[in-house]
Amino acid sequence: MHISYQVQAGDFSNAGNVSSNIKKILKQLNFHPSLIKRIIIALYEAEVNVVAHSYGGEVVCNIAPDTVIIVVTDTGPGIPDLSLAMTEGWSTATAEVREMGFGAGMGLANIRKNADELTIDTGANQPTSITMHFSVSTEVKNEP
Ligand SMILES: Nc1ncnc2c1ncn2[C@@H]1O[C@H](COP(=O)(O)OP(=O)(O)O)[C@@H](O)[C@H]1O
Ligand SMILES: [Mg+2]
Repeated sequence: MHISYQVQAGDFSNAGNVSSNIKKILKQLNFHPSLIKRIIIALYEAEVNVVAHSYGGEVVCNIAPDTVIIVVTDTGPGIPDLSLAMTEGWSTATAEVREMGFGAGMGLANIRKNADELTIDTGANQPTSITMHFSVSTEVKNEP
């Protein structure tokens, strides 16, 4: 199953809509609740980053029985120093964005914690592309 959604820059009132939609679909497909939780935490952060920090982009989601692959891409302006951006608490969010409750600087760190595999392609004045792999077997292994 392959689904894609557009994400508008600056549209905070709709930030999280893609995550909510994908959450519903994953529930309907009976994925493990803890897998759904990991996917939605990571996807939500990537989605909000497109709204808060980019010129706009899209979420492409591939759902297979044993893996979920989500690619979040935007059209720039990119992240000049990725390792700095991955640091917990580091953020370039404006005061306005922080007032709306975003910009704690934990998004990329949370994506790294929740995805089984993560690839980020970015750079100064470049698009950003975040590929997140989630494996159903991770949940099965962690089953009590
Ligand atoms: N898609 C993106 N495009 C450009 N910059 C980004 C993007 N995602 C993250 N960043 C940069 O990385 C920083 C850290 O991101 P994150 O950990 O999600 O924290 P926050 O969004 O709260 O600032 C952001 O403040 C921003 O500078
Ligand atoms: Mg963020």
